[in-house]
Amino acid sequence: MIETLAPKAPDPLLKIIKLFREDTRSDKIDLGVGVYKDSSGNTPVMHAVKDAEAQLLATQKTKTYVGQQGDVDFLRLVGQLAFGAMSRDFVSIQAVGGTGALRLGCDLLRESGAKRIVLPQPCWPNHPSIVRAARLEPIDAPFFNIAEQRIDMDALIGAFAQAERGDAVLLQACCHNPLGADFSLEQWKTLADALNARGLIPFVDLAYQGFGDGVDEDVAGARALLERVPEAVIAVSEAKSFGIYRERVGALYVKTAEKARAAVMSNIAAIARANYSMPPDHGAAIVREVLSDEALRASWRQELDQIRTHIKSTRAKLAAERVNSIPMHLIAAQKGMFSTLPLNQDQIIVLREQHGIYMTDAARINVAGLRHADIPRFVEALRAVA
Ligand code: LMR
Repeated sequence: MIETLAPKAPDPLLKIIKLFREDTRSDKIDLGVGVYKDSSGNTPVMHAVKDAEAQLLATQKTKTYVGQQGDVDFLRLVGQLAFGAMSRDFVSIQAVGGTGALRLGCDLLRESGAKRIVLPQPCWPNHPSIVRAARLEPIDAPFFNIAEQRIDMDALIGAFAQAERGDAVLLQACCHNPLGADFSLEQWKTLADALNARGLIPFVDLAYQGFGDGVDEDVAGARALLERVPEAVIAVSEAKSFGIYRERVGALYVKTAEKARAAVMSNIAAIARANYSMPPDHGAAIVREVLSDEALRASWRQELDQIRTHIKSTRAKLAAERVNSIPMHLIAAQKGMFSTLPLNQDQIIVLREQHGIYMTDAARINVAGLRHADIPRFVEALRAVA
């Protein structure tokens, strides 16, 4: 039987990573995978993370299981960081990265009777795969005009009509991947009203807290939404905010009525148990140590501030350049790691093959991975194709 399996197309992002690795040109530029790089092109381990690891090495007494829900102190601290006081009422479970949290959330929604998830397009390329793997139907909602780099709220809310009561809408909390275009506070409130009017559940994906305008600023909109809706599912990743990508640190939070919380907890626990049983500990333990120690927390905030400042300076430098058909100036106001340029397939291939510049097939660039020293060459190459 197994020998009859048809091959699957490689994941579009992982394909770009592979192509970049195989390119032998020394001046190639990697704008593919979403990883922050400093001005020398490195992704160093944060000092606070190193110190937390040293502390864990010195004090950890056992490697026995933490428990089905995972590290409850980690869940409390991350909940507080992301949602403030209201997180005390959320049901939560540690997950295997933000992706694992998204999958748990999809499975929970399906168990609760949802059939569809509305995906504002373009979305993170892995979102539709996760939704389908959970046997839910992804509904594409137009949402962003790439040529004009503008959110179209009417189109997005209009697409809610394709969903039914109990279905969900996947919304990125901040630093949108792949657009860098975030909702304003007013737009979040409008979304809350539109979701409530149709009985749709917001499924919030928070993966870049601190990469946009600041730790609190980046979640102000999502908090405003969460205050206004009766139920919500939220997937959180700490991979980027703590620079611990490979540790796969995530969590799922669920807002629901008090009387439903025990049942929701038992459902997410059962889903996780049948999937990977109990979560890994190390990454969550790092985050717990950093957030619970005043000095480590301050050190982490400072490094995160530096990362954000660096990304903003890269955005400002790009925005100061003129490239015929690309509204470069709008890149400055966008948030976080990514922007998506109005480039077609031919242009993307020429950039890759002739100039050694790698971005996704949908023209997403990882602004956070662009070294300042490479900006002149990147802009020259854009001018050559666009
Ligand atoms: C990205 O979008 O580049 C990251 O989230 C990495 C991934 O797994 O796709």
